[in-house]
Amino acid sequence: MLAIRWVTERDEKGYFWPSEEAKKHAWVSDPNIYEEAAKDPVAFWEKRAEEGIEWFQKWEKAYEWNPPHYKWFVGAKLNVCYNCVDRHIKAGKGDKPAIIWIPEPVDEPKRVITYVELHKLVQKFANVLKSLGVKKGDRVSIYLPMIPEVQIAMLACARIGAVHSVVFSAFSADSLRTRIEDSEAKVLITADGYYRRGKVINLKQNADKAVEGTSIEKVIVVKRAGNEVNMLNGRDLWWHELMEEASDNCEVEQMDSEDMLFLLYTSGTTGKPKGVVHTCGGYIVMAYWTSRWVFDLHDDDIFWCTADVGWITGHTYNCYGPLANGATLLFFEGAPDYPEKDRWWQIIEENKVTILYTAPTAIRMFAQWGEEWPAKHDLSSLRLLGTVGEPIDEDAWLWYFKNIGGSRCPIVDTWWQTETGGTLITSLPGIGPFIPTVAGLPFPGVTADILDSEGNSVSGSEGGYLVIKSPVPPSLLRGLYKDEEKFVNTYWSEYGKEIYFASDGARWVEDKYIRITGRVDDVMNVAGHRLSSAEVENAIASDERVSECAVVPKPHPIKGEVPIAFVVLKGVEPSDQLKEELIGAVKNQIGPTAKPADIIFVKELPKTRSGKIMRRMLKALLTNKPLGDTTTLQNPESVEHLKEVTGYKG
Ligand code: WT7
Repeated sequence: MLAIRWVTERDEKGYFWPSEEAKKHAWVSDPNIYEEAAKDPVAFWEKRAEEGIEWFQKWEKAYEWNPPHYKWFVGAKLNVCYNCVDRHIKAGKGDKPAIIWIPEPVDEPKRVITYVELHKLVQKFANVLKSLGVKKGDRVSIYLPMIPEVQIAMLACARIGAVHSVVFSAFSADSLRTRIEDSEAKVLITADGYYRRGKVINLKQNADKAVEGTSIEKVIVVKRAGNEVNMLNGRDLWWHELMEEASDNCEVEQMDSEDMLFLLYTSGTTGKPKGVVHTCGGYIVMAYWTSRWVFDLHDDDIFWCTADVGWITGHTYNCYGPLANGATLLFFEGAPDYPEKDRWWQIIEENKVTILYTAPTAIRMFAQWGEEWPAKHDLSSLRLLGTVGEPIDEDAWLWYFKNIGGSRCPIVDTWWQTETGGTLITSLPGIGPFIPTVAGLPFPGVTADILDSEGNSVSGSEGGYLVIKSPVPPSLLRGLYKDEEKFVNTYWSEYGKEIYFASDGARWVEDKYIRITGRVDDVMNVAGHRLSSAEVENAIASDERVSECAVVPKPHPIKGEVPIAFVVLKGVEPSDQLKEELIGAVKNQIGPTAKPADIIFVKELPKTRSGKIMRRMLKALLTNKPLGDTTTLQNPESVEHLKEVTGYKG
């Protein structure tokens, strides 16, 4: 079969456009959609809500704006799980695969879960939660690897109105504990272990360390890897035993549009992770429509989002969005290089994946491994590629386009955040253009702008700060859990309470398309993972031999950025051993993804007159950029020493 070309040749400006076939295939191909939506965004979202989602009761008011607070579909009733599962069965799609799960061990068969089966499993597990006393509004922590029990658990929570808080399985026990404590969860769902490059990681051990002395009453354990675990009598229960006894009939809870659907913790500029609050109505409308339009998701697609379900990308595009569309999603437990560096390409070939959504860091890694790995496989089933999580450079974009997309598939570069719940800026596959390094246009109905530091809209290719204006997208976070002050300070203070400050730099391309230039706060982006400088600093500073420390990102060819720690010691001599111990502390307190790539011992840190550490200067030292004015420092004499230890070339 001759594979269809979904994009045109690159034009003189360097843009790609959808081919005629792509326009014909796409749900949206008329660029007027942007203007129409902009004329009356609230009416636009109302139409989306009506068409995409089944409601038990319609809203009285579509949008309420009391800056910096807002509500969508006020007074409406729905159930997100019903929209992701039950209605597809009613529509006759019960036998369609909802989830194709690929285990890491190559000799273990894949598991295909149809909508009917998913329905049964979700109802059973919802009854399990109920039997343990979980009620509407209660928080449930989920600390699971990439196995289908994670979607089953999330949907079961949504079914009964419980609020889930998924914690990335590679996070440490300490990270899990902090999140359990903040959310005051009653139940934790975890697994005995999981496979990672052929080894079994004992997850239950971490869970045990995390829950002691917290609000957790019951721990439900999925038997995944069969490793030896401790089961505490009266507290720990096996998933499969509970499921055996549970009835597979569980009514859905009628939820208010503005009831909380889930909490997801993310890193901010302080040491404490923030609990981002998402609600039922607005979130699912956005998850549904962005999945449908951005990926041009159709009934015959096999959609593969490679993000871990512990991140927002996993929530929206590995669970809620595709399932709300009644689509088939592929879910992979393992690593890209196990058993060989072509595992992903083999999976695409075998399962005829049509849409691949991944992160630039993965693409840069594949590019480094070499094009011979994807070349071994027939990737002609692919129709569309996506990226997310960090700015993508032109080389990586073009490598992905050529070697994975066969120069036939468009790449949608989707900008969004944990806080936005769904994609806000991207090109649409039937409209384009697809420009390397440029995210594109705000999604229809989304009002984005780029402002200078005074709050004026910038023009030309001048850079500025990305903001979102009212009417805010339906899925924008409703708050930070139990922290109103931080919510206001973080998002609604830079330009006042009517403008959402995204903490990203951006610039216009042709006064229309948006290029994202990266974070403007002390948040790093390490291999697509959001990491706060302060969190890593706290972990290092918890060692009593450390007097002070500052952590800044340094550019890295594959990971995008890596953390580098500058450490001032308290009366002890620097040593390699101490370096290892401090790196170990970060691994234990946050997780392996947060480990500093290097620790530089210094006599003192550069500080402003008000005593603030000048992180900007530390960044400049690491990248050999101009240091700027150092005379305003409290301790200008520290600069020579810093230049020396960092090997600064200026
Ligand atoms: C930050 C949000 C939501 C997806 C996963 C990350 C950066 C995200 C892009 C993109 C350039 C991007 C931003 C943003 N980011 N997508 N397409 N181009 N940068 O979610 O962990 O909440 O991180 O990721 O800096 O603020 P997150």
